[in-house]
Amino acid sequence: MGTINVTLRDGTEQSVEAAGGSSVMEAIRDAGIDELLALCGGCCSCATCHVHVAGEWFDKLSAMSEDEDDLLESSDHRTLQSRLSCQIAYTDALDGLQLAIAPED
Ligand code: FES
Repeated sequence: MGTINVTLRDGTEQSVEAAGGSSVMEAIRDAGIDELLALCGGCCSCATCHVHVAGEWFDKLSAMSEDEDDLLESSDHRTLQSRLSCQIAYTDALDGLQLAIAPED
C-alpha cells in the first residue's frame, strides 16, 4: 500500500491509498473523487481520467503508449506533464506520487 497525493480542481489536496495491481485512476476513483470521471472504465478511450503529474514524478512512470498519446492530443489541457491515469499502473515505487486532476475538456 502507498499514497497518492491528488490536487483537486478547486486546489484542495487529498491523499488516497493505492495498492499494487491497480491503476492510479482506480485508486483515485475508489477513494470517491468523482471529478475524475473515467467514463470508459480504463480502456484508454475517453481521456476523462486526464491528470497532470508533478515534474519530479513524471520520469518515474512507465512509457506512454501511442494510443494514450493520440487520446491526449484531443485535450485542450494537455501539458508536458499530462498522462491518462488509467494507463499508469501503481507500484510501490510510486508511493507519494503527486498529481493534479486536469481541467475538464
Ligand atoms: S478512463 Fe477512459 S481513458 Fe482513462
